[in-house]
Amino acid sequence: MDLQELFLRRQSCRDFTQEAVSTDDVLYCLEAARLAPSACNAQPYHLIVCRGDTALAVAAATQGMGMNGFTKNVPCFVVVAEDDYNRTAAVGSRLKGQDYRSVDIGLAVSQLCLMAEERGLGSCILGWFDEAKLQNLLHTQRRIRLVVALGHAAEGYPIRKKQRKPLSELVEFR
Ligand SMILES: Cc1cc2nc3c(=O)[nH]c(=O)nc-3n(C[C@H](O)[C@H](O)[C@H](O)COP(=O)(O)O)c2cc1C
Repeated sequence: MDLQELFLRRQSCRDFTQEAVSTDDVLYCLEAARLAPSACNAQPYHLIVCRGDTALAVAAATQGMGMNGFTKNVPCFVVVAEDDYNRTAAVGSRLKGQDYRSVDIGLAVSQLCLMAEERGLGSCILGWFDEAKLQNLLHTQRRIRLVVALGHAAEGYPIRKKQRKPLSELVEFR
């Protein structure tokens, strides 16, 4: 798919069928994340693929206060946990006062979701979840930074027109 078309087609999917996501498709998405750039090439994340009963438990941890009810049908989640910087990224982050890890995780998740679209899957990035519940479920002390829902979009799920600020609000040339 042409890159521009991919950017326009990739959208947050909030209506999934219960069809399983193939391991092959998941691996393509994970590989796209692995290839993402990161500060000092540290790749400071750990990706946990959750399917079956684990996916049901992850879904429950993403719901609350009226948020993310749609996740109950999601067949596959990639839980994105934070990992340590490497030495150079740690020094750079401290000296420059920058949170490179969040940037790195965002880039990896972006590539993962674009590859999902390319493979014909729907995806939704989730930032609303119960972190302690997920840590407990997945037996990890790492911080959980994002959860990505992956699956097949329900039949007829519409491609929405992108709502975005115009470039004039986002950009200046000097
Ligand atoms: C960091 C982050 C957290 C998000 N958390 C949620 C969430 O918890 N639930 C949800 O339905 N969408 C969530 N989204 C999806 C955004 O609402 C969505 O990307 C945005 O409205 C643009 O729409 P689009 O993805 O369809 O282009 C999140 C997106 C990002 C990048």
